[in-house]
Amino acid sequence: MISIAIDGPSGAGKSSISKSVADKLGFIHVDTGALYRSLAYIVLKKGISADDEISLKNLLKTTKVTIEYVDGVQKVFVNAEDVSDKIRSEEVSMMSSNISKKPIIREFLLDLQRQLAQENNVIMDGRDIGTVVLPNADVKIFLTASPEKRAERRFKQILEKGEKKEYNSILKDIIQRDYQDSHREIAPLKPAEDSVFVDTSDLTFEESVLKITEVIGAKI
Ligand code: DC
Repeated sequence: MISIAIDGPSGAGKSSISKSVADKLGFIHVDTGALYRSLAYIVLKKGISADDEISLKNLLKTTKVTIEYVDGVQKVFVNAEDVSDKIRSEEVSMMSSNISKKPIIREFLLDLQRQLAQENNVIMDGRDIGTVVLPNADVKIFLTASPEKRAERRFKQILEKGEKKEYNSILKDIIQRDYQDSHREIAPLKPAEDSVFVDTSDLTFEESVLKITEVIGAKI
């Protein structure tokens, strides 16, 4: 099986770019952020604090996260509830970053991620795919963009959904999440030593897809 690991900070376009490239190659796309988000969703629903490790541990005992593909699109289920659309709120974003610091949360999701890569050709995106989850991936890419560019893109997406949020508050959340994700003790966001660095700040979506396709084409 072929594995392609794409890591990087939030809002760099990892998921949409990975999905497009995966479709072209006939691989499945695994958005691992959605797995952390699905746990954050259930943690919020149960009113558990991200620092209450005992309650988190108990919650995980009765929680099952699964992935299914419907017309090539990843759907995430928690205890059979389809949470794919419910996990995209700003509240879930911040909670997923908070709970992803916890070793029990990361361990809980590790097998599922590795199993998907064992059974399928995958493009898997996240924070620690090239460093921890799939250290032997065939291609590793670190995909990033400036915080301002990422905030700008998020601002536009929110507007397109008919919602409103201050640009500065989006930028602040992005900077806080980057800090938390890259400074945690376990599996922090960082480029794998053997990764190819791609900055999409000045690239359109199509240019980014082309660039990633070229990087992959040169390696496999
Ligand atoms: O990629 P995303 O924004 O959907 O991820 C949400 C959060 O999940 C992110 O802030 C950190 C965490 N995460 C992680 O710790 N490891 C991953 N492989 C993917 C996501």
